[in-house]
Amino acid sequence: AGSDDRRETDVLVVGSGIAGLAAALGAAREGATVTVATKATRPADASSWWAQGGIAVSRDDPAQFKRDVLTASDDTADPDAVDVLVENADDAVEDVLLDTLGVEFDADGAGYDFGREAAHDEPRILHVDASTGKHVHVPFLDYLDARDDVTILEDTAALELVTHEGSVRGAMLERDGAVTPAVAGATILATGGIGDLYPRSTNPAGSTGDGVAMAALAGADVEDMEYVQFHPTVYAPPDGDGTGDGDGDAGATDGADPFLVSEAVRGEGAVLRNAAGERFMPDYHEDAELAPRDVVARAVRTEREATGEVVLDVSPVEFAEEFPDLAATCEDRGVEWASGIPVAPAEHFLCGGVAVDSVGRSSLDRLYAVGECARTGVHGANRLASTSLLEGLVWGLRAGGDAAGRSPEAVEVPELLDTDPELPDAFASEKFVRLRRAMGEYAGLRRRPSELERGRAALRRLKGEVDAYVRTRTTRSLYELRSATVTALLVMRAASENDRCVGTHSVVEESAEPRAE
Ligand code: SIN
Repeated sequence: AGSDDRRETDVLVVGSGIAGLAAALGAAREGATVTVATKATRPADASSWWAQGGIAVSRDDPAQFKRDVLTASDDTADPDAVDVLVENADDAVEDVLLDTLGVEFDADGAGYDFGREAAHDEPRILHVDASTGKHVHVPFLDYLDARDDVTILEDTAALELVTHEGSVRGAMLERDGAVTPAVAGATILATGGIGDLYPRSTNPAGSTGDGVAMAALAGADVEDMEYVQFHPTVYAPPDGDGTGDGDGDAGATDGADPFLVSEAVRGEGAVLRNAAGERFMPDYHEDAELAPRDVVARAVRTEREATGEVVLDVSPVEFAEEFPDLAATCEDRGVEWASGIPVAPAEHFLCGGVAVDSVGRSSLDRLYAVGECARTGVHGANRLASTSLLEGLVWGLRAGGDAAGRSPEAVEVPELLDTDPELPDAFASEKFVRLRRAMGEYAGLRRRPSELERGRAALRRLKGEVDAYVRTRTTRSLYELRSATVTALLVMRAASENDRCVGTHSVVEESAEPRAE
């Protein structure tokens, strides 16, 4: 890539979920020119589009909201970061979602229909049916698309960061096989989660941990990577492998893709039953189905192993009336919801990521991270439901505002080869199967020290193979595989270095319950 075709922008945002879009808005409002580079070719390629439950707000009681966030995290969240979240929640939602984008959250004559989800002390979740994400994401994209100071480059992958004397000056972008540098005054990573590292996930394809990996390879601090949240109620076809750990291929095959059944359904009264028809959650936690997500996920897995199946019994809820989108999804997929929706846990959200401060600054000069790829400290070891859109919105705006005001400077860019059409994507897809199997088996809901070591060894071997290719070829799938491998190693390393069972991170004794394989 020669310097002639370089792009220059004040702020480069990588990723187009709510966090990336909020960062773009925050920077543009401060007068910056903004380029958003996104692998997405349609709105549904961003995790935000898939968000169901909604967006939590403080409702004039930030202190109670803060207590709920801290309790759900097993008191591992950073109280100062949580203050930033809860104190800015209502203003950010009003300013951007209501005033700027005109999102129409569900309401009745008495005001907003605030939803309730697990571990929330009170109903405080703004939502649109159970498909809030798309009702926020689509108008946000349209709004930014119409602004002259924001350029959105679709189907464009960031392959690696451009660095200069410890400072980040943009990224190498790939589109249609051509690799060009984008030189920026500041770079904001908003690449989302790591669902593609697991056999079963609620994330869209392409969630390969690119931002975490690029930042780590450039030398940025990364924290809390062992805290990978599994959502307890993700549709699992009845012939699944029973572990709900993502270590089989159940639910990951064509026609049986996992789909989330929002926690909001339990918030309205749906209950979990095992294969014997027994409601089991009251035996596990005093809050039963509304216990923190990690507790429910582990209980669902245990009951699936013991009895073969867990279903979400929606009969206490007016399901078709209250959750028409979910009822329609069930019907499209031939799932007879009236007799209970078969569910198992699936990977849902990375609580850790690139370590950032209260405005999204990473440990590297001019590099920011926001949204799921960032570790703000808000989630600690376990994220409270419906705080991810909010975190993305709040930190996105703050990071964008802080990043504006720096101009791109002349800098040497790395020479990356254009795409090699000879390298079949099959190479990457075969390796991905190995990677997902290792993550599902060794870094799932339950972890054993010896298995984590085995997993690390397998991933190190894989990384050696991938690195050998990356030195000589460039394809997007190869770089995604590299990102996934680097990120998976970070998860495994953090998990094996932390022997404290807390939140999403559950370490079991070597002799404890044999895994169901
Ligand atoms: C859900 O609707 O259950 C997901 C909400 C979340 O992950 O915050």
